This record gives sequence, C-alpha cells and structure tokens, in this order.
Amino acid sequence: MSDAIDPDRLDRAVEHALHRHTDYGAEELDESHVASDPIVQFDRWLAEADARGVYEPNAMVLGTIDADGTPSSRTVLLRGVDDRGFVFFTDRESRKGRALAAHPTATLLFPWYPVHRQVIVTGAVAPADDEESDAYWAGRPYGSRIAATASRQSRPIASRAELEARVAALEEEYAGVDDVRRPERWGGFRLRPWRIEFWQGRTSRLHDRLVFTRDPAADAAGWDLERLQP
Ligand SMILES: Cc1cc2nc3c(=O)[nH]c(=O)nc-3n(C[C@H](O)[C@H](O)[C@H](O)COP(=O)(O)O)c2cc1C
Repeated sequence: MSDAIDPDRLDRAVEHALHRHTDYGAEELDESHVASDPIVQFDRWLAEADARGVYEPNAMVLGTIDADGTPSSRTVLLRGVDDRGFVFFTDRESRKGRALAAHPTATLLFPWYPVHRQVIVTGAVAPADDEESDAYWAGRPYGSRIAATASRQSRPIASRAELEARVAALEEEYAGVDDVRRPERWGGFRLRPWRIEFWQGRTSRLHDRLVFTRDPAADAAGWDLERLQP
C-alpha cells in the first residue's frame, strides 16, 4: 500500500456517504411524547438503537479534561444505567482515570448514526464502590481479567512481546485457578448526569434537540426541559 496521502480520498468518502444517506425525517422528537425523566428516555432510545441493529449501542465516547486542562476522549462501554447514573469500567490509573481524579466531570456521547440519533450526557463522575467493581470483575472472562491485570493502561511499553510475556507470567501464576484478583487500580466509575441532550435528525437539517438539565448541586432536583435550535 502506498504511504502517500490521496488528496481525493476525503471527497470520495463524502460522496459515498451522500449516496448512502437517506434523508432524515421519518421520526421526530417532540416535547409531548418525550419521557419526563431523561434517563427513562435514554433507556427507550437505547432499546430502539439495539432493536434496529446499531452495532454496540452501549459504546459511548467519554470526554474528560486532563490535569493541565487538555481535553481527551475515547470509547468505553456503558455497563449500567439507572437513577444513580451511567456506569463504565476501566483502569483508574489510565489517562482517563488520572483526568477524572483531577477533574471529576465528563461527557458521554452515544453516536447512534444509523438511527440518526445522538445523546450527550454531562455530569459528575465518582468511583463506583468496591462491591460493584468486584461483581463486574467476577463476571468478566478469564482472559480479560488476565489482560487487565497485565496491562498498565495508557502507559508506554517497549514492545508487544513484553506485554505478552507479562500475560504468560500471569497465566502461569494463576494456572488452574480461576480466581484472578481484581487489581485495586481497576474498577468502575459512575457519572451522575446534570445535562442530557437528545438529538434527532430531521429533514433539511431542521433537527430536533431537546435538552434536560437539573441543578448539579441538588440531591434529588427535578429536570428542566428546553428545545435548542439545530
Ligand atoms: C468499542 C470500544 C469499547 C471500549 N470499551 C472500553 C471500556 O469499557 N473500558 C476501557 O477502559 N477501555 C475501553 N476501550 C478502549 C478505550 O477506548 C481506550 O483505548 C482505553 O481505555 C485507554 O484510554 P485512555 O488512555 O484515554 O485512558 C474501548 C474501545 C473501543 C473501540
């Protein structure tokens, strides 16, 4: 494969996207039928994304702020959602983990392009408790637990071979024993939302945007609903 950048590549990709694009507009998002609780509305849309075949509908782009103010983002998987918030699991010493220790505020973006929808959730993030992390850890496959133990996520490593050697050493340590201990650095985070925006693609870019907000400081504050211009 040539290592030169093809100057027409982007134009061709955009052209193909335009051909594949069927006009948005079959659906609307209206104040009269949206749930009054945005977490209930999220749950409805998650079910619909899943039913309509969105690949990994629980994949979300987590945006954080590093200690020095630099933004960063990456995909993580949603592993739980209820009144208390949105849960994901990771290495708390990873880049995102260190960012969340410095700035415990984040956004979660669900890019459900095939169904012309997007949800963006913003809120305060706190570590999930040990019992929750233990329970999730125990349900992960043996190989994933070994890999998470071997990998100091986001740190540089000299080679793939070094990582594989660490995995082999752990497999030997745990040979015949399925009880791989959860490293203290690995666990859950829960984002408690104070803003949830629902975006529904509509005809001629006249999209629907409904945003729910509540007071971040209040414990059980109700939600306000506003329509935003597209
Ligand atoms: C579809 C998908 C799902 C992912 N799920 C997770 C996850 O649940 N937890 C996690 O730590 N990393 C997950 N990753 C990897 C992250 O995107 C990222 O590479 C890793 O967490 C390191 O990020 P950081 O260096 O910004 O901390 C996933 C990646 C993809 C593409």
